[in-house]
Amino acid sequence: MLTKAENDLLTQTGPGTPGGQFMRRYWQPVALSAEIPAGGAPIPVRLLSEDLVLFRDEKGQPGLLGLHCSHRGADLSYGRIEDGGLRCIYHGWLYDRDGRCLEQPGEPAGSTFHERVRHMSYPCQEVADVIFAYLRQGEPPLIPAYEALHAPADHRWVTKYFNDCNYLQGNDGNADAAHVPVLHGFLPGSDLAARQPKEASFSGPNYVGRQVTMLEIDSEDTDYGTRIFHRQPDGRGDATVRIMNMVLPNLCAVPGGPAGSGDGYLIYWHVPIDDEHSWRYAIAFKRSGPLDPDLGRRRTSVMTPDYHLTRNKSNRYLQDREEMRTRTFSGLGEIFIVADSWATETPGQIQDRTQEHLGTIDRAIIAWHRRMLAAIRDCQEGRDPPHVVRSPEHNDMSHVLVRADAADPAKTLDEYRQQANLRREQLTVQS
Ligand code: FES
Ligand SMILES: [Fe+2]
Repeated sequence: MLTKAENDLLTQTGPGTPGGQFMRRYWQPVALSAEIPAGGAPIPVRLLSEDLVLFRDEKGQPGLLGLHCSHRGADLSYGRIEDGGLRCIYHGWLYDRDGRCLEQPGEPAGSTFHERVRHMSYPCQEVADVIFAYLRQGEPPLIPAYEALHAPADHRWVTKYFNDCNYLQGNDGNADAAHVPVLHGFLPGSDLAARQPKEASFSGPNYVGRQVTMLEIDSEDTDYGTRIFHRQPDGRGDATVRIMNMVLPNLCAVPGGPAGSGDGYLIYWHVPIDDEHSWRYAIAFKRSGPLDPDLGRRRTSVMTPDYHLTRNKSNRYLQDREEMRTRTFSGLGEIFIVADSWATETPGQIQDRTQEHLGTIDRAIIAWHRRMLAAIRDCQEGRDPPHVVRSPEHNDMSHVLVRADAADPAKTLDEYRQQANLRREQLTVQS
């Protein structure tokens, strides 16, 4: 349970809020590269409650400007890409990617008025088919070199989808590993359970349903956030140990997709549109080779072309009571992102965490919230929070360790933790 003040700190990300200033210390995904193809139209984007326009100039470079023209406020996403920038279609003012006003048709020859207009602009970078933006003035840090962002293109799969709720609810769901065998459970005896290969149950769906037994969960602070250890009996006499990470400020690195055995992992980046809506960017990669394109096809089968889920709050997620009797625990289908959206959206657009009652299985969520609150306090006191990476020698992210393995019954969770730390201590940890 959090106090109202703590919940506000964690959930409010608009300009001027402490949480918003915290989020603005880091690069944030602002769109998929596919949304602004070369020669394509500019798009309006809303990020951290700011209305912006994203475009690709004639050289193919992404630019991010304030949505409303500095002249008389018209929407620049209707503009023309030409002459080295974005031109407003109202009176023809032209802006480059840095917000310089290059032309003001109609002003007298020799006028220097255009030099005195500086339109809002933010730096952008394109990495791994994602456009990242830095919504703050001053020298931007580096984008952390997560392995997923540097995997070869055919080893990687990237998409996003809309969540009708605050970003934190989405990301907290990733720290909540205990929900997997319940919410995502397949019923014993069903075709889904039979189809599930035993080894896959270590990383993804399993049939446990109501047979959930004691699980162990532990966490520790790292230089990048919170590392979580989790041992889950699978109901067949074996157990899975997962090592996963909540990464400051709003993402996680978890087993999933192709990464069940540790061969790559999955990043979920929960990006505030505003305080009531968010995008969940998903970046999966396989370390050892090209990804199976079916991974993407299964997910996109429940998505519209503009990255919304077809099963959503407005249609009660198409919950199927017959399926609940015969196949799945939740009746929400076998594609997890539908059930995950249900879990994160139905507490309300901004969950009132003064009303929740967290138990033993929620230890990692409690630790993660404490870690975030401490990082926000760093910002409030004028310090860079943790995981703002400012030099290449501190940008080795190989200690963002993600595993999902059959548990060794002879090994305690603490021994797994010590092993992960051994690896971490070989690396330079930013102070
Ligand atoms: S409003 Fe954009 S040029 Fe006038
Ligand atoms: Fe889930």
